[in-house]
Amino acid sequence: MNENIQKIREQFPFIVQHPQSIYFDNAATTQKPIEVLQSIQNYYKNINANIHRGVHKWSILATEAYEAARKTVAQFINAQDPTEIIFTSGTTHSVNLLADCLFNTYFQSGDEIVLSIAEHHSNILPWQNRANKFGVHLKYATLNHLYQVDVNHLKSLVTEKTKLIAITYVSNTLGTINEVKEIIQFAHQHNIPVLVDAAQSIAHLKTDVQQLNTDFLVFSGHKMYAPTGVGVLYAQKKYHSYLYPLSSGGGAIIDVDLHKTEFADVPLRLEAGTPNIEAVIGLADAIHFINKNGGIHQFYLLEEHLKNYLYQRLFELQDQLDIYTTLQSPSVSVISFNVKNQHPFDVGTLLNNYGIAVRTGHHCTQPLMKHLKIQGTVRVSLAAYNTIEEIDRFIQALHKTIKMLL
Ligand SMILES: Cc1ncc(COP(=O)(O)O)c(C=O)c1O
Repeated sequence: MNENIQKIREQFPFIVQHPQSIYFDNAATTQKPIEVLQSIQNYYKNINANIHRGVHKWSILATEAYEAARKTVAQFINAQDPTEIIFTSGTTHSVNLLADCLFNTYFQSGDEIVLSIAEHHSNILPWQNRANKFGVHLKYATLNHLYQVDVNHLKSLVTEKTKLIAITYVSNTLGTINEVKEIIQFAHQHNIPVLVDAAQSIAHLKTDVQQLNTDFLVFSGHKMYAPTGVGVLYAQKKYHSYLYPLSSGGGAIIDVDLHKTEFADVPLRLEAGTPNIEAVIGLADAIHFINKNGGIHQFYLLEEHLKNYLYQRLFELQDQLDIYTTLQSPSVSVISFNVKNQHPFDVGTLLNNYGIAVRTGHHCTQPLMKHLKIQGTVRVSLAAYNTIEEIDRFIQALHKTIKMLL
């Protein structure tokens, strides 16, 4: 086994404790390294207190750790200032929070939002629900022959009414990397802000929000080795004056009267209520884990090697499979396929009998499934703790599965 993979692998108790199982569902959620498990335990054993409101030492310790995590996340994505990092419960919450704010302060009836047909439902529904109510129109860019968002088509959708482009960096179903930098450059020429859904890129591609020059970016901790229940809404400072959500509460204020309120600055006015403190601290420790192991690019290189091998092995079965990517498609370590004429659930269920966890279904991308004219796919998503040997075992099990189904 590759020495670097072995070094990463042994830091994941779940992986070590299940040597007979193969976990290929990393796009849904990653396993957690020991450092993150210890971080959560350490928080409850040695710190546990509520933040921002206490003068006692435990509250001060908890607040310091929480705010230090904000700085760590800011550095991780190269935000200019930690106040641009708003903690949420995950990507879905981040998109909803942003939509809540922008429909409160920014959009007007008749405005347009451009999305793509490959978006996760979490980057469609928050816009669709509110757009229908407020008379805002959604437009969808289609895909090119490489399964990427077709940038020329996207550009053709933009008019003087376009007020936001919201686009996924990496498709959670197909693994393809979209040309978000080009989309952002084009959008800015037309004074349109861009939201990048980085849920599937954050664990694979180095994220530099200043280099991308994105206005907003969202991601979840649990897809990058951190605990569930924490996510990030990155919002460039120049948009903070628009970020007044309709929903609010304790902790988000400076002064409250019975009939009016003076709100705190961003990020606090967007983090009402007690947050998931241990998960926020756990997210910072997941970042320390990534950095200690060579940084995101090192993870990408290990995964790229695995993905290329997986693609090659799947391609050997091309007569029996429909594979929804091409060798030329820029992509992360996610491959979707179907066994010809078979339902993905049947394939996934049989693979589970061999101890292999893959995801099957529409992957919360039903518009994409409708575009591809399929019900769903079998999705294999790899992390840097997966191995070539696991891919070989998976291919053997897939051979047996195909035999059984035909
Ligand atoms: C591209 C993309 N966006 C949004 C989400 C939603 O993430 P969460 O369920 O963590 O809120 C996912 C989850 O799979 C995703 O892959």
